[in-house]
Formats: sequence, structure tokens, C-alpha cells
Amino acid sequence: MVPMNSAASLPDDVVRALRCSVCGSPVALAQRVLRCPEGHAFDLARQGYVNLLHARTPAGTADTVEMVAARADFLSAGHYEPLADLVADSLTPIGSGGLVVDAGAGTGYYLAHTLDRLPGTAGLALDVSAVALRRAARAHPRIGAAVWNLWQDWPVATGTAAGLLNVFAPRNPREFHRVLRPDGVLVVASPGPSHLAELRASLGLLDVDRSKQARLDDLLGELFTLDDRAEHTATVTLPAADARRAVLMGPSAHHLERRGLGEQLDRLHEPVVVTLSFTVSRFAKRS
Ligand SMILES: C[S@@+](CC[C@H](N)C(=O)[O-])C[C@H]1O[C@@H](n2cnc3c(N)ncnc32)[C@H](O)[C@@H]1O
Ligand SMILES: [Zn+2]
Repeated sequence: MVPMNSAASLPDDVVRALRCSVCGSPVALAQRVLRCPEGHAFDLARQGYVNLLHARTPAGTADTVEMVAARADFLSAGHYEPLADLVADSLTPIGSGGLVVDAGAGTGYYLAHTLDRLPGTAGLALDVSAVALRRAARAHPRIGAAVWNLWQDWPVATGTAAGLLNVFAPRNPREFHRVLRPDGVLVVASPGPSHLAELRASLGLLDVDRSKQARLDDLLGELFTLDDRAEHTATVTLPAADARRAVLMGPSAHHLERRGLGEQLDRLHEPVVVTLSFTVSRFAKRS
């Protein structure tokens, strides 16, 4: 069980790693305001995260309140615990201390799981969804959470992260490479072709692209070398409520009106037998 952090703030190691998103200077935290020497200031929200974005992101980018609630409920049922274990196993070679950045952290489930294994390590959860980060900020006492759009240059110091985590989230290889220490480790989790295939077939949703893994390797290959790859495939029975959540927490939730997906989900009352299939890849930096 992950301890809840009632007065969520930003751990010192996270503040040291953050940069002002206006001018790039280091920042300091005082009275729940993050400030740079140029006077740019970012309030820490009551829920413990800081919003460093100064532009709105396009609709349909960030996970919504409903998607985040579905994800939190689904993850708390433990179906993806084997994936959280694989991710944490993959990052443990970095040892304790240092910083792990989770790019597209969502509710912080995987980052919290990883920090449980790495005493003294701090975690920075980056995500464009403030709703998700309210949960991430409280998911572990050593997590600090910042709202940011991963497609832009990150407000994070160069060469600062011992570990970088990317679980089912957008990938920006150039920024992955820049923020990682020279000996840093990048861990990427992606769904295998058969992941939730039965559920997707019964609802007429798109398949996972079979060439996804090859594209991941192509995308990262210029800046990273593949060190290790672990796969997990299992057949599980999802209670109907969790099967609905598995859809409602994914990208299809942005388009529930299409082909009556919402109504189809409402009619789903029986448990569903599905395949879970994940790949967790560990990469090292090319110099
Ligand atoms: C499928 S969810 C995965 C969340 C988390 N890693 C997990 O597996 O529980 C994708 C996440 O990426 C975030 N996201 C999507 N586009 C983003 C962007 N451009 N910048 C930052 N985060 C983004 C969403 O808000 C969402 O939390
Ligand atoms: Zn500044």
C-alpha cells in the first residue's frame, strides 16, 4: 500500500531539478511559491502540484476527470501490478538516491511503486493533466508533480535524472536524452499487440499497432541503445466494472459518442476474459 501524503509539496531534489519555464533559471520554493531570480512565480496548488505551463494545451490532450478516476480505480484493483513490478525491477539498477522523472506520469502509480523500491530517491511526475497530478502529488511522499506539455522543451535541468520512466505516454527522445545523467537509465513500457485484444475486438476498437515495438526502437535508436527487454503476458478475468474502466481510462474515452461506444459499455455486465501484454524496455544513453 502506498502511503498518502497529506501536506503534499515538492521534495528538495525535485525543486533543484526544476527550471523556470519562462527563462530557464533555477527556482526556489518559499511559502508554496516556486520562484526564479527573474521574478517569475508559480504557485503550488493546494493539492501539491505546480503548474509550469503558460499556454493552454489543445482539447483532447490531457486525461479528463472521468478518465483519471477510471484509471485510478482500475489500477487500485491490482490488474497492472505485474507491470508496476517490471517497471520498478527495470529501474532498480540506478540504486538509491538521485531523481526519477516520470514523463506522462498520470496518477503516479508506477512512479510511487518504483520509489517504494528506492529509498532516498525522489520522483518528478510530469503530465499535462492537472487532474491526474492531484493524485500523483499524493501518491508518495517523495513525489513532486509539475504540469507540463512533454512536446515542449522540459523545465528540467540538463543531466539531472538518474532514471526516466515512460509508461503508455508520449515520447520526446531529445528531452529524454537531455535530462538524463550520462549513466542514466530510460525505462519505457508499451502494450504488446495482444493487450486487451478480446475487449477491443468485442467493442470494435482499434488494434494495437503490430509494428509499435519496431517504431519505438526506431524513434529512440538514434539517442539510446537497448539494454534489456522484459515481456509479461497473462490471461485475466476482469470484472465488468474494471473492463469498462479499462476502456474509459484509454484514448477511446475521448470519443465515447463514436459508434455508440458509451452505450456498448453500459451494456457490459459480465466479467470479461482478456489478455494483458506489456513490454518493458530499458535503454542506456548514447553519448
Ligand atoms: C495512457 S495515460 C498513462 C498514464 C500513466 N503513465 C499510467 O500508465 O498510469 C497517458 C498520460 O499522458 C498524459 N499526456 C498526454 N499527452 C501529453 C503531453 N503532450 N504532455 C504531457 N502529458 C501528456 C495524459 O494526461 C495521461 O496522463
Ligand atoms: Zn524565470
